[in-house]
Amino acid sequence: MNYFYKKLILPLFTLLLLCNSFITTAQITKDYDLWLQYQKSSVANGIFKNIALNAKNETDKAIQNELKTASERMFQYSPTFSNSENATLIIKKTSELEPTQKKIIDKANALNDEGFAIETIQNKGKKTVLITAKNSLGLLYGTFRLLRELQINPSKKDFSIADEPKLKVRMLNHWDNLDGTVERGYAGSSIWNWQKLPDFIDKKYIDYARANASVGINGVALINVNSNALILTPQYLEKVSALAKAFRPYGIKVYLTARFSAPIEIGGLKTADPLNQEVQQWWNNKVNEIYKFIPDFGGFLVKANSEGQPGPQNYGRNHVDGANMMAKALKPHHGIVMWRAFVYSETDSSDRAKQAYSEFVPYDGKFEDNVLVQVKNGAIDFQPREPFHPMFGAMPKSKLMMEYQITQEYLGFSTHLVFLPKLYEEVLESETYKQGKGSTVAKIIEGKPNELNGMAGVANIGSDLNWTGHPFGQSNWYGFGRLAWNPELNSEKIAEEWLQQTFSKDSNFVKMISKIMLQSRESVVKYMTPLGLHHIMATNHHYGPGPWVNDLARPEWNPVYYHKADKNGIGFDRTATGSNALAQYSPEIAQYYGDLKTCPEEYLLWFHHLPWDYKMKNGKILWDNLGIKYQEGVNEVKNMITIWESAKPYVDAERHQEVAQLLNIQLKEAIWWKDACMTYFQTFSNLPFPKEMETPKHDLEYYKSLQFPFAPGIKPHW
Ligand code: GCU
Repeated sequence: MNYFYKKLILPLFTLLLLCNSFITTAQITKDYDLWLQYQKSSVANGIFKNIALNAKNETDKAIQNELKTASERMFQYSPTFSNSENATLIIKKTSELEPTQKKIIDKANALNDEGFAIETIQNKGKKTVLITAKNSLGLLYGTFRLLRELQINPSKKDFSIADEPKLKVRMLNHWDNLDGTVERGYAGSSIWNWQKLPDFIDKKYIDYARANASVGINGVALINVNSNALILTPQYLEKVSALAKAFRPYGIKVYLTARFSAPIEIGGLKTADPLNQEVQQWWNNKVNEIYKFIPDFGGFLVKANSEGQPGPQNYGRNHVDGANMMAKALKPHHGIVMWRAFVYSETDSSDRAKQAYSEFVPYDGKFEDNVLVQVKNGAIDFQPREPFHPMFGAMPKSKLMMEYQITQEYLGFSTHLVFLPKLYEEVLESETYKQGKGSTVAKIIEGKPNELNGMAGVANIGSDLNWTGHPFGQSNWYGFGRLAWNPELNSEKIAEEWLQQTFSKDSNFVKMISKIMLQSRESVVKYMTPLGLHHIMATNHHYGPGPWVNDLARPEWNPVYYHKADKNGIGFDRTATGSNALAQYSPEIAQYYGDLKTCPEEYLLWFHHLPWDYKMKNGKILWDNLGIKYQEGVNEVKNMITIWESAKPYVDAERHQEVAQLLNIQLKEAIWWKDACMTYFQTFSNLPFPKEMETPKHDLEYYKSLQFPFAPGIKPHW
C-alpha cells in the first residue's frame, strides 16, 4: 500500500497540483495582460528580426522592451537592435531619415507632435517597414499601432498609415483615496501603494503605463476629485514624483486634484479666498514647489462647490475667480486646470438638470486659456442613458472637455457586461445644432485647431488581478482611450479590435461576441431605466433599484424627484409646461425632444410626464411598454448567456468560466431591477403586469427591505 501510494498516487497528485497551479498562472497572465496578449502566431513574420532603432532615451528603451516582448511571444524569436543595412523594421525620427525618404518625412511632419507614419518602403532593394515621427513619443505610438495591426493580422507586411490624436489631453481620473479605497471603485483597492512609494516601483505601474500608452492615454489624475490636501504636501509629492518618473517614458503626465481649502488645511492661512493676495501667493509657491518635484507636472483637476466640496463660493467669489487663480499659478510652467462643471445646489429648487448650465454659461469667455471646463456627458450624473449635456455648444468662447465614467457606478458595477464605447459614441455623435448642422458634441470638444482640448474618463481600475473586476471592463478602458484619441471612431470597430487582441481573431467568435457587446448597453438601459427613466437606484452605494426612496435630506437626491410617478402617470416634464430644461438646448433639439410626435422613446420620460395609459407608437399603453422593456432587458441578458456559452471553443476555460459566472449574476440582478421597479410603479398605475412580463417573485416590501452592507465603492458603513 505504502509503495503504491509513493509510486503512483503521490506523483499523480503532485502532477495534478502542478497542472492546477499552471492553469491558475495562465489565467492570471491572460487576464492581467489586457489587450496586449501578443498571442503566439500560427504564421511566421520576420518583421522584428533586425530593428534599426537607436535607443537614446527612456521612451526609445520602452519601445525596445515592447518589441522584444511582442516578438518573443508572437513569433518566438528575439529581435536584434542595430543600425544594420538589413533592417527589417526601421524606427527613426523624421530628422534622422535620409532625404531619399522625403515623401514619408513630409507625411509625418505634417502631423501634430504626437502623430506618426508607418510605411512599407524599399530599402536596399528589400521591402522594409518604417515607423517615423517627429519625436520619440510619436515613435512609441507608432510602435503600439504596428503591434495592434500585427496582433489582428500577424502576416501583414504592407503598411501605409498616418495617424495623430484629435485631442491633446486624454486622461484617466482615478477616484482613489489616500487610504487605499476607491470611490465608486469595483475592482478592488487603489493600485497606488503610498506606503511603499517612492522607493518601490511596482511592476504594475509600468504595465499600467504600457496599457495606457498603447491606446494613447497621456494623463492621469491620481486621486479622488473629493480630494485630500495632503497630496500637495512634500511627503506625498515625493511619492507622486516617483510615479511620474515611472510613467514618463510612456508619455503620461501626472495631474493632481487640488482641494480648494488647501491653503487653510496645509498652509496655515485663515482663508482660501481666491482674491486674497496671500492665498494667491500660497498657490503660486505651491505650484513652484510641485514643479521642483515633477518638472512636467500636468496641472490640477478641481471639484469646487459641488456636493459639499469647498470652493470660491464659500468666499462670495465665483468659478472664474477660483479657476483663474490656479490657472495663473500654473501658466508659467505650461500646466493646466480642469475645472469641473458638476454642480447642483441644495438651495436651488429648479430642475437639477438645468443648474450647471445656469451657473457656468454666463462665464463664457472669462476663463484663462489654460482652463478646460470639464463637463460630464449628461446633466444629471453618468446615468445608463442621458441626453447630451446642454453645456456642449453653449460656451463657444470657452474650452469644454468631456468627462465620462468608465467605472460602472450606475451600470451594474463590475459584475455586468456593458460595453460603454457605445454610450460614449452616442453622446459624441449627438447633434447640438449650436453652430449649425454638423456641430456634434465630438466637434464641440475638438474645438478650434491647435487649441487645448481633452477627454477624461473616471477609471475602472483597481488591484484585482484582471485590473477591472470584469474581463469585459477592460474593453471600456480600451475603448475610452481609443475615443479620446479620435472621438469620431466607430464603437463596432473598437469592439472587434479589442476582441481580436484580447481573446481570439476567429471571425465567428468576433462576430458573435461583438454583437452582444454592442447590444449590452441598450440591455442595461432596458432592465434598469427604460424609456428615459433615470436616477432610480438605491441610496449611497447605488447598488440595485431604489425608486421608492423619498426621505433624503436634499430633494434632488431622492429617486422620486426624477420619476415623479403618481396615479396620473410618470416622467419628468422638462418642456415649457414643466421645468423647461429643453430651452437650454438649440431650438432644433428643443423642438425634437419637446414634441411627443418626434421625441424618441429612449427619452420619453426624461422630457415628459405621461399618463399610464398613454398610447405609444406600437399601439400599446405606456404601462405595458414599461413592463415589456424591462422584460426585454432581462431576455437580452439570457441571450448573452447562451451566446457566451457557444463561444466556449474560442476562449480559454478560465476566462470563459469567469465571464459565465458574472453573466449569471447580471441576469439575477436584471430580474431584481425589473421586479422591484415594476412592483413599485404598479402601486401608482394600479394596472396588471403586461402578459409579456414574467411576474415578480416577491412583494414590494421584500425589495424595499433588502440591505447591502457589503456593497463596494464607498467607505464601509458596518
Ligand atoms: C457622483 C458620485 C460621487 C462623485 C460625484 C462626482 O455623484 O456618486 O461619488 O463624487 O459623482 O462626480 O463628483
